[in-house]
Amino acid sequence: MSREPRHAEPLRPIDWTGEQPPELRRELVPQHVAIVMDGNGRWANRQGLTRVEGHRAGEASLLDVVAGAVQIGVQHLSVYAFSTENWSRSPDEVRFLMGFNREVLRRRRDQLDAWNVRIRWAGRRPRLWRSVISELEEAQARTAGNTGLTLTMCVNYGGRIELVDAVRALAADVTAGRIDPARITERSIAKHLYEPDQPDVDLFVRSSGEQRTSNFMLWQSAYAEMVFLNTLWPDFRRRHLWDAIEDYARRDRRFGGAVDAPSA
Ligand code: IPE
Ligand code: IPE
Ligand code: MG
Repeated sequence: MSREPRHAEPLRPIDWTGEQPPELRRELVPQHVAIVMDGNGRWANRQGLTRVEGHRAGEASLLDVVAGAVQIGVQHLSVYAFSTENWSRSPDEVRFLMGFNREVLRRRRDQLDAWNVRIRWAGRRPRLWRSVISELEEAQARTAGNTGLTLTMCVNYGGRIELVDAVRALAADVTAGRIDPARITERSIAKHLYEPDQPDVDLFVRSSGEQRTSNFMLWQSAYAEMVFLNTLWPDFRRRHLWDAIEDYARRDRRFGGAVDAPSA
């Protein structure tokens, strides 16, 4: 496999497919959508291809979904690209995914930049390839001034380890006498997450039919609406995201509250 990215495609307008998002009142559009991009391997194997061909095919899905998120007015999109558990895959697949993440960023950052997308990285440094970290940091720096959608690439991310990291930082503050343990609040923990300025997840989407979080955004999704779609990630397009958002818009978010309304 070549280490160089394939040639970048020409830049596209955000609505290059000609599709228009459903019209929804502003407050019904989720501010923060988290997506578990799942089903690449099954998509490939079903066609007699190897798993990595599924990952390759997922690149177009990601680009299309980002465009759809911008079109409908989502402000934060967090995508699960590589979990802290994914190291348990075969060395070949892990190697492929590392190189692939690096190349996708290199190939797509200009397009994302042109759409005014701000790229961020959430995840841990240990074990992650240095070249992937530099590509993530380069994309982050290059798009730091953008004011549109914030796209958080979750690479070597795990929700539990994120909380462990937050607890370690708080413990260090306690040891140094900077904080009194009795004054630790939910806010103190939230402040030590990888992306402390991000709002909570409103809508949590997973493709491929699996109905679990697989350790994604545990803290941030405490009150997220969950939408599970059977579509495998390589077949996933902006209209699937819009379908999930329409589903979300129909939900009654109560946050523990209740309204008494007997009907006859
Ligand atoms: C998601 O697709 C991509 C990553 C986890 C990196 P999978 O590779 O998990 O595909 P399935 O779930 O095995 O079909
Ligand atoms: C979650 O999918 C991780 C990513 C999509 C990056 P997995 O395919 O790794 O999760 P499990 O193994 O089905 O829980
Ligand atoms: Mg999977």
